[in-house]
Amino acid sequence: MSAERDPRRGSGPCRGPETWWRELCLGVLLFLALCCCQTCGMATPDQVKPIITMEQLLWVSGSVIGEVNTYRIPLITATPQGTLLAFAEARKHSPSDIGAKFIALRRSQDKGATWSPTSFIVDDGSLADGLNLGAVVVDWEKDIVFLVYSLCAHYHQCPVASTMIIRSRDDGVTWSVPRNLSEDIGTTMFAPGPGYGIQKRYEPKKGRLIVCGHGTLARDGISCLLSDDHGLTWRYGRQPLHGIPYGERKLLSDFNPDECQPYELPDGSVVINARNQNFYHCSCRIVVRSYDACETLPLDNVTFDMTLVDPAVAAGALVKSGLVFFSNPAHERQRVNMTLRWSFTNGSSWWKEPLQIWSGASGYSSMTALDGAAPEDAQSLFVIYEKGWVTSTDSVSVAKISINGKL
Ligand SMILES: *[C@@H]1O[C@H](CO)[C@@H](O)[C@H](O)[C@H]1NC(C)=O
Ligand SMILES: *[C@@H]1O[C@H](CO)[C@@H](O)[C@H](O)[C@H]1NC(C)=O
Ligand SMILES: *[C@@H]1O[C@H](CO)[C@@H](O)[C@H](O)[C@H]1NC(C)=O
Ligand SMILES: *[C@@H]1O[C@H](CO)[C@@H](O)[C@H](O)[C@H]1NC(C)=O
Repeated sequence: MSAERDPRRGSGPCRGPETWWRELCLGVLLFLALCCCQTCGMATPDQVKPIITMEQLLWVSGSVIGEVNTYRIPLITATPQGTLLAFAEARKHSPSDIGAKFIALRRSQDKGATWSPTSFIVDDGSLADGLNLGAVVVDWEKDIVFLVYSLCAHYHQCPVASTMIIRSRDDGVTWSVPRNLSEDIGTTMFAPGPGYGIQKRYEPKKGRLIVCGHGTLARDGISCLLSDDHGLTWRYGRQPLHGIPYGERKLLSDFNPDECQPYELPDGSVVINARNQNFYHCSCRIVVRSYDACETLPLDNVTFDMTLVDPAVAAGALVKSGLVFFSNPAHERQRVNMTLRWSFTNGSSWWKEPLQIWSGASGYSSMTALDGAAPEDAQSLFVIYEKGWVTSTDSVSVAKISINGKL
């Protein structure tokens, strides 16, 4: 990642205008890397014993925060400044996917210990079929955070769906006015994520921004929005992965890849881990792998991960310190049992003993990790998830995980 940054500011954690500082800092980093880096090579099973070191509720449903009925669809990302940004849909009047909403944001500048008060960064007013999150994607080369969301995703009292994008150039403090991407990409309904988009770290198409999402239930499947110019222009990849039968109402067991999370493997391929909406083949996750930076998502590259038992939900997936992590409510039918798994084999198998994050009601989840030089950053990841005592939409919680099990 280091070579991608603005050279005037230095790279990676050693940012700053002063050359001597950068050199000193880089020297210290090199020393640390040579002497005590546990994450440069492959982590071994005895070094990976994830535990929860901290957990906080960020939002509580039930009209107690900002008179918001329900908080749902949590997203989280780290920024190049080392800040954590957590987003959620703030559903104003009901728990329904349809209806008017805000986008809620909280920031943490101390690695998740404390969070800013909620700010509502987008307000869709009183739309009958308001906004839906969404995917957050960071351009690490330009230090820009984008948030993509949809309007009128259900065609409820509105004729046209729109794909919208906002942008922050100051670490999530202020946001641009919404830009209507549908003017460029068309008005086919596109529900991004929910989760994060990626910036390619490896060839092919290093630097490309990729945001994947799904369509309406009838015309469902996975497509990805691509930008090769740091978010100025966007287009869809050439070949999406369509559901079958495409354009028709689906029945149980039809092939219907839905909400999805991409991540990049070290060979430069992109894996998209998707909700198996109609339980085709299994009550487990659909996995599609793209070898051309999401230009094509070929059927030939679709597999089913029988270990990742799933009740049809949005799940989290993240590559961190050479491991692949996966979070979901690990249950065939019910949204309960939020579970974290990890893979030493690029996601082709999962470690036999997962970590249960919450045994009770739990729904959507998403993950991120800080990218700084502190040893803590290499060993931490953050899982944001829908957590409940009665239903999974009672609250949105963020758990900080120590990967090596040390506090
Ligand atoms: C976005 O652009 C599309 C295509 O021009 C248009 O049909 C739609 O109404 C616009 N949406 C909004 C919210 O302005
Ligand atoms: C992925 O799909 C392409 C196009 O169908 C195919 O040529 C390739 O062999 C597939 N790769 C793998 C690893 O399955
Ligand atoms: C929770 O998930 C774990 C891991 O898959 C599984 O062993 C356990 O039986 C699950 N518990 C429930 C209540 O589903
Ligand atoms: C994961 O993928 C990388 C890049 O292709 C490869 O070097 C590494 O050996 C793979 N790891 C395993 C355990 O297969």
